[in-house]
Amino acid sequence: MATGIIGVGHYLPEDILTNKDLEKMVDTTDEWIRTRTGIETRHIAKNEESTFDLAYQAAINALAHANIEAEQLDMILVATVTADQSFPSLACQLQAKLGASQASAMDISAACSGFIYGVITAKQFIDGGVYKNILVIGADKLSKITDWTDRNTCVLFGDGAGAAIVSEVSEDKGILSFELGADGSGGNALHQEDNKIRMNGREVFKFAVRKMPESAEKVVEKAGFTKSDVDYLIPHQANVRIMEAARERLGLPKKKMAYSVNKYGNTSAASIPISLSEDVHEGKIKDGDLIVLVGFGGGLTWGAMTLRWGK
Ligand SMILES: CC(C)(COP(=O)(O)OP(=O)(O)OC[C@H]1O[C@@H](n2cnc3c(N)ncnc32)[C@H](O)[C@@H]1OP(=O)(O)O)[C@@H](O)C(=O)NCCC(=O)NCCS
Repeated sequence: MATGIIGVGHYLPEDILTNKDLEKMVDTTDEWIRTRTGIETRHIAKNEESTFDLAYQAAINALAHANIEAEQLDMILVATVTADQSFPSLACQLQAKLGASQASAMDISAACSGFIYGVITAKQFIDGGVYKNILVIGADKLSKITDWTDRNTCVLFGDGAGAAIVSEVSEDKGILSFELGADGSGGNALHQEDNKIRMNGREVFKFAVRKMPESAEKVVEKAGFTKSDVDYLIPHQANVRIMEAARERLGLPKKKMAYSVNKYGNTSAASIPISLSEDVHEGKIKDGDLIVLVGFGGGLTWGAMTLRWGK
């Protein structure tokens, strides 16, 4: 047996904030945001809607898609940088609400790379024969730590959650290779200060356009494939120009790359699982497809994997 993903789900809050809305809040234009980032709208959670609420909905959807009950979960991992409290963890709160009585639970802090860190952590427990089903969630409500007076950052982010059930799959499916990395010396380029996101956009951009393509290419090679074997790419949805760098390095046509940054902005740890879930449910990812997931984020961190889709 191998370790793969048997179900996915996602959730986005209802309210939509457009570039035109942002024009009224800071000195920016719809044109600037679209051409520099590819973002047109983002979903923003209401005040009373917490990161937990987003994560819970995504979890319910992933459990239903995998056709398993919460009692069958052995572990819950939540990748987030916006948990409602530092403790108890969001994962423990979910364990209670879902009724996942057999599951251990913890949060993972790796910013926008968190979902990939979570899936690869889950893989170790399943490969080792310790656990069978692990719920991995990427959930963030960045709007609560966004400085809505800072045009450098407030146009970029959105709220949302995505989830996956990591489990045993047949030998020819599942996760085939991965890479996780960190460079703490670059941490100041993207950090939280006085409870707000602070970013050196140019520094993060330089890091991301180098790391995402490099890491995507590396995991394809590690799995013993060539770029032409790749069917679909899911890059972290931060900025279309950074995503394009990864797509071009793999030589893929545009339609073979997940693209939701225009609708949702950068949803941090949620961006990759939201895209994965959306594209699986829309039939863009099919049984047997070789897909590459690749992300980068605060830390600085990065992560990538190749995955043969299916059970
Ligand atoms: C932030 C980012 C979109 C800026 O785009 P860019 O093409 O690199 O823009 P530059 O940094 O060259 O130029 C920025 C200029 O635009 C201005 N600017 C920044 N935000 C603006 C906005 N929303 N509207 C209008 N102008 C803006 C800046 O003030 C700056 O002006 P200056 O040169 O007079 O100081 C880009 O650097 C980026 O995407 N970085 C990565 C961010 C990211 O992904 N973060 C999350 C990681 S998980």
